[in-house]
Amino acid sequence: MPPRKIIIDTDPGQDDAGAIMLAVASPELEVLGLTAVAGNVPLELTARNARLILDICGRGDIPVHAGADAPLKRKLVTAEEVHGKSGIDGVEIYEPPTPLTNGHAVDFIVETLRREEAGSVTLCPLGPLTNIALALEKAPDIVGRIGAIVLMGGGFFEGGNVTPAAEFNIYVDPEAAKIVFASGGPITMMPLDVTHKALTRKDRVARLRAGGGKPASIMADMLDYFERFDEKKYGTDGGPLHDPTVIAYLLKPELFSGRECNVEIETSSELTLGMTVIDWWHVTDRKKNALVIRDIDDEGFFDLFIERLNRL
Ligand code: RIB
Ligand code: CA
Repeated sequence: MPPRKIIIDTDPGQDDAGAIMLAVASPELEVLGLTAVAGNVPLELTARNARLILDICGRGDIPVHAGADAPLKRKLVTAEEVHGKSGIDGVEIYEPPTPLTNGHAVDFIVETLRREEAGSVTLCPLGPLTNIALALEKAPDIVGRIGAIVLMGGGFFEGGNVTPAAEFNIYVDPEAAKIVFASGGPITMMPLDVTHKALTRKDRVARLRAGGGKPASIMADMLDYFERFDEKKYGTDGGPLHDPTVIAYLLKPELFSGRECNVEIETSSELTLGMTVIDWWHVTDRKKNALVIRDIDDEGFFDLFIERLNRL
């Protein structure tokens, strides 16, 4: 079976780093490129961080394209209080030897989808959906060529993490999310309802570090930093490991469960801006436009995460 081709759209972010490491450590996947988007920190830093994480993994051969430096219609909201000023505090920051690849991220997404066999490329958005929305607006023909969109974002039963109603990735660019969820693309959604069940408990971080791999140990250092904010906020042992759930779903979907639902995005109410309104009980006849994942085998998820990162 040939490896599954993916593009990771990302705003690193320590948890994005974990997703990127998991992807490059897994022979089932072929990472065609990373596309950076402004989110956790400004674009200049997310693009640098994406290159730095690939360099740590010895994969400077994977192209990184810079994309949108701001949401479609709003001022950028960032999350340095969670991720630190660099966006990936916890790791030694350096200028990666491999430069950014020329060409805008949106053009890379469109050209790749048009070049590769229809249905053969999976998009993995891990940040605000600005690049994905711009690609869909620029080239509506690509929607029928996308194999899958497996994204981290949103929340419903779990509420929000940046406002009571909204999760960060959707909140930063709700207009972009509205475009993506209305596109008809084959969406699988990893909301807070599932990622909050994947906690980076101390014993799990220790197992990651004990595996002996240098990238895994660097990842453990990043998690030590990243989890402090959520441990304080939620009073838990460890914080939610959001973005790697997207890649784990590609590798072992049997670790997850959910249902097809209608998902709409709030873009006008100030109180609930960015809320993902998930019709989980199918009380409306609105089109089911996403597979919404709600449960995870968290032991199996961390076994996979730790085993794979220690291959690097
Ligand atoms: O709300 C969590 C999401 O926002 C994660 O993708 C994290 O990296 C940030 O982008
Ligand atoms: Ca992210």
